[in-house]
Amino acid sequence: MDIRPTDRPDRRTFAIISHPDAGKTTLTEKLLLFGGAIRAAGEVKARGAARRARSDWMKIEQQRGISVTSSVMTFERDGLTFNLLDTPGHEDFSEDTYRTLTAVDSAVMVIDAARGIEAQTRKLFEVCRMRSVPIITFVNKVDREGREPFALLDEIADQLALDVSPMNWPIGMGGQFEGLYDLEHDRLMRPAADNARGFEGDVEQLGGMDDAKLATLISSQGLALLREEAELAQAGYAPFDDTAYRHGDLTPVYFGSALKDFGVAELIDALARFAPSPRPQPADPAPISPDDANVTGFIFKVQANMNPMHRDRVAFMRLCSGKFRRGMKLNQMGTGKAIAVHSPILFFAREREVADEAFPGDIIGIPNHGTLRVGDTLTDGPPVTITGLPNFAPEILRRVALKDPTKTKQLRKALDDLAEEGIIQVFYPSIGGQWIVGVVGQLQLEVLISRLEVEYKVDAVLEPSPWDTARWISAATPEELKAFTDLHRGALAEDRDGAPVFMARDTWELGYVSDRNRAIRFSATKERN
Ligand code: G4P
Repeated sequence: MDIRPTDRPDRRTFAIISHPDAGKTTLTEKLLLFGGAIRAAGEVKARGAARRARSDWMKIEQQRGISVTSSVMTFERDGLTFNLLDTPGHEDFSEDTYRTLTAVDSAVMVIDAARGIEAQTRKLFEVCRMRSVPIITFVNKVDREGREPFALLDEIADQLALDVSPMNWPIGMGGQFEGLYDLEHDRLMRPAADNARGFEGDVEQLGGMDDAKLATLISSQGLALLREEAELAQAGYAPFDDTAYRHGDLTPVYFGSALKDFGVAELIDALARFAPSPRPQPADPAPISPDDANVTGFIFKVQANMNPMHRDRVAFMRLCSGKFRRGMKLNQMGTGKAIAVHSPILFFAREREVADEAFPGDIIGIPNHGTLRVGDTLTDGPPVTITGLPNFAPEILRRVALKDPTKTKQLRKALDDLAEEGIIQVFYPSIGGQWIVGVVGQLQLEVLISRLEVEYKVDAVLEPSPWDTARWISAATPEELKAFTDLHRGALAEDRDGAPVFMARDTWELGYVSDRNRAIRFSATKERN
């Protein structure tokens, strides 16, 4: 059962963060393609559709043609296994999206060269920052007209307060695009001569930007531009620094085009070389090292209704330590129950396969009937609880009203269940009996109503709530907290763990109240512990 560091196959477990349309699906497809996990482009979407059609997917997913939940894709390259955790790409958020980021060791941030940093990129970035998740940036679509590379780099640096380190440089963009120059290895990648302008596949090794050969490969204007811009860039931005990257203070930036295959191989190479192997996981009483012999993991997501006929669910466990073997018994912390994992699922790009063994950094799907909850720690060793899985302040609050008041008990159970799963948050106001649900995105409300109806046979409606936003509150002393809560009882609630929450009518009120109560900490996230 012992696992020595040298025996442990290495993993790169990462997610792609981006705003819808920046090119995450295309890049995912190309990563899988380059990694040999799929044969032809177009399979990611096709596979998604087929899978949805095969399984009794949630009504909402079918109606809206989107996947509410994330999936896991695995590919290999140069003997290294990459686990790519997908985060839903549509405009709505759920905690589920955020929590997926708790299960990765690094992230790739995809930015559309014409649009720069967009709202959703920033939100997801903040989650990465909170956990010091290192980020590699991919500025996509350089084959189209985009913003100046300098403007893009400055925007990343300013808006995200990150050092940026360009690793390659586009020679023109859009109609003027002549290729990418690899600043690290002095290599040139050029588009093929035909109209499609895809990467021709040949990499020209050069002796530097003064190499005479360069003038024969690109236009004289292109060469002048490259020399000037690259010189400015190298003088103006920090050189790549591994430690700063790993602390989440610096991001290496790759320009490229997922569609035309530019920069994709370099991105995989960067993940292999720079992105961290599975890191120690914060836990109580002590952090868990990936080299610990005991098998330990945590559930970061639960996908319910795989088949509505049998309330079965798949819990996604991120393995943090030890060597997992099929059939193992793991203890579910908090409940003291032992769970025999007979048919774990490993998620390969082509199809799901039954896993015989898995290593730190891997994701295992554990079919169950609702016993496993988001945030659970599972281990075959001494009791330990993984910490640092955050809850997020909801951006939409609604009152739940029952059409049939005799169903109160069922509603309570349903809300508790769904809150445990991370689909919604529930707040119990100090005054008044109406429960408030909080979500991060509109779509979750539809998921909530649909699941209440289908799974719990509860007919409920969501009504506007007097509050618009919520914050967890804390203070240095219980007296300070009490002074505040006594004064604001009408706006107070408890979350499902009994933690105090302040609800505000709008962000203006929130700002007003927090300005006048400096002793109180208003927090948009709450860490479980
Ligand atoms: P998303 O998952 O982040 O939402 O983005 P997706 O990959 O679906 O890409 C959004 C659109 O951008 C798609 O076009 C896609 O083809 C295009 N795209 C992605 N990468 C590149 C790139 O490097 N260069 C260019 N020029 N376009 C790119 P679409 O017309 O909306 O969809 P489709 O009909 O092509 O699927």
